[in-house]
Amino acid sequence: MRFDRRKDLLGLRDITREEIEVILGTAIPMKDIIRRDVKKVPALRGKGVITVFYENSTRTRTSFELAGKYLSADTSNLAVSTSSVQKGESLKDTIKTIEMMGPDVLVMRHSCSGAPHYVARNTTMRVINAGDGINEHPTQALLDMYSIRERKGTLEGLKVAIVGDILHSRVARSNIFGLSKFGCELRVIGPSTLIPPGIDKLGVKAYANLESGLKGVDVINVLRIQKERQHGALFPSIDEYRELYMIRPEHLALAADDAIVLHPGPMNRGIEISTELAESPRCIVNEQVSNGVAVRMAILYLMLGGGRDEIAG
Ligand code: CP
Repeated sequence: MRFDRRKDLLGLRDITREEIEVILGTAIPMKDIIRRDVKKVPALRGKGVITVFYENSTRTRTSFELAGKYLSADTSNLAVSTSSVQKGESLKDTIKTIEMMGPDVLVMRHSCSGAPHYVARNTTMRVINAGDGINEHPTQALLDMYSIRERKGTLEGLKVAIVGDILHSRVARSNIFGLSKFGCELRVIGPSTLIPPGIDKLGVKAYANLESGLKGVDVINVLRIQKERQHGALFPSIDEYRELYMIRPEHLALAADDAIVLHPGPMNRGIEISTELAESPRCIVNEQVSNGVAVRMAILYLMLGGGRDEIAG
């Protein structure tokens, strides 16, 4: 399957390494566009992009909106909290209403795993999953992969540790699906209550402590503790979590000499990552944000069929 012939981008589980390579490769010239004084090319003139987020977002929603604008698409956002969703309008009716207004792409976030898949089956619009429950967040994983490859020169065979709340993390799942296609050695580190049972079936090794899990890794991807998805006490206290799992500069000594630290954001500073590490040059969280715009430009461009020559020069 060629990525530009897909109707939807719902996850990384079912897309190929070749498709991922096309997206990451297309993001390179997109990053050049973002660096220009005039950040505008006509590639998607006349196309419509709408973002509909049933959960809060800063990075994903704004970067999709800017990505569309930089490519000259008409972008719009449905503010769910002030929309007729609050009057009880169903997901199905909301999406049909939007579809009838004519946008080409719907970028959607929802707290229910599978909601974008349901919508994709029931609309003619192309659907991009911007995070569904605890299932997948494919564009976050793609920007993580882009950021890692930009720093390391390759993804092939890297040792990657994902640390923290794996159980509730759609970012972790999409990273695992994506990076495993590039032969990465994948580890997850966290309290056993935050590690999904059967994670080994995805080819991932689980570690209960930072000392063993971080040994020799090239990349440390630190996850947010998702208090909004934890409906019981999954670890004794924040203080104990901080003591055992907060990544600090001294932990880098366990990893490879040139190891980098990622965080999808928003960060809980002083809980899963120390401020000192978050602000060190080894932590590439700000690069991830910039790369997120480039990767989302690439995805919109490929899905909406922009002409390749229009992004050059
Ligand atoms: N990483 C991420 O999805 O951030 P937002 O929730 O701010 O979009």
